[in-house]
This record gives sequence, C-alpha cells and structure tokens, in this order.
Amino acid sequence: MKTHVANHPLITHKLTLLRDKRTDSPTFRHLTEELVMLLAYEATREIRTEKISIETPVAPTTGVHLSKPRPLVVPILRAGLGMLEGMTRLIPSAEVGFLGMVRDEKTLQASTYANRLPEDLSGRQCYILDPMLATGGTLIAATHYLLERGATDITIICILAAPEGVAALEKSLTGAPVTVVMGALDERLNEHGYIVPGLGDAGDRLYGTV
Ligand code: URA
Repeated sequence: MKTHVANHPLITHKLTLLRDKRTDSPTFRHLTEELVMLLAYEATREIRTEKISIETPVAPTTGVHLSKPRPLVVPILRAGLGMLEGMTRLIPSAEVGFLGMVRDEKTLQASTYANRLPEDLSGRQCYILDPMLATGGTLIAATHYLLERGATDITIICILAAPEGVAALEKSLTGAPVTVVMGALDERLNEHGYIVPGLGDAGDRLYGTV
C-alpha cells in the first residue's frame, strides 16, 4: 500500500475553509467538489491510457484515450456521495458503483448494507471515495470487498485522514495494490472517533443531521 498527502497551497486553502465551523452546508458541498477535483488530479496520475492516432487540422499525430474497462468510481454512502460530482467532472466516462457500509457497534466489524457494483471487477482500476479516514474500518472492508471481486488497482481518495486509520489500512493491506491519496494527515482521533482537528461529521456538514 502506498500513501500520498497532497501538498498544495490551494488544497490547504480550501481545506481551511472546509474545516471552519462557520462554513454552511451549500458552501461545504461546493468546496468538497472543488477539493475532490484537485485531489483526483493527483490520484489519477497512474490512470491507464492507450495510444491513438488522430489528425489535427494541421497534421496527423498520436495522443491517448482512457483504456477499457473504464475506471470505476465507488463512493461510500453517505458522505462519499458528496465527493462524486468532483470526481465525475474530471473523469466523465468513469462508471459509478455504490457501497453502503455500516459498523456493528459491538464487534466494530464493518459490513455491507448496500451494493450496486459489477460482480466481476477483474482488471478494473477503482477509485473509492470517502472523505474521512478515521479508524479505517469501513475503508478496509470496502477495499477487501473490491479486491475479492478482482479489482487490480485501487486508489482511495480522502479529504482528511488520521494516523491511526492510515496505520490500520497499512496493516491490513500490506502488499495490496492500493494507494491512499489524502488532502491532509491530521493529528489523531479523539475518544469519540473524530479526527482532530478535523472538520466534524462530514455527512452532517454535507447533508444536515436528518
Ligand atoms: N467521520 C467523520 O465524518 N468525521 C470524523 O472526524 C471521523 C469520521
């Protein structure tokens, strides 16, 4: 597993606005979309392409287009949905699958409650979207789920991560073809499982508390 912390002043600037508790939901959603576009630019450096021949108005030349099978984008419900628009703006031809994960409060095991994904992911490049890498339980379960279905290359895109979550992923996914791209690596998790300083509950800030 590889990790990459995006280190760009525009990302830090937008993250600062996102963290601010005075930022309202519409602005939060808009900033999330912009941030995901910037993160996705980093996260898609290894996206597979193939050479094609074209003609410009002046001369024949070669370029590239995205390889088939098309990349699969998988937002984790609910907060990952807030990242989908930014990602599909950058890769409009990507396919989209959905995963709903829930954690058993007793066993702390994450399990799938909703799944709208192709059964066979052989050879697919997948991009998992989840804004907060906190304990890592959900992302570990989601990543194993895609690997078991044949995904050969998985990139997890998070807005914020806690060191505890990154360590848990590293332990569970050693040697797996997985990269985590994050906007920032924060200090720690608090006793309630929130990232510190973080931005609060990402789902609530995107969609309210209903
Ligand atoms: N999920 C969130 O939405 N926020 C956190 O700080 C941790 C997990």
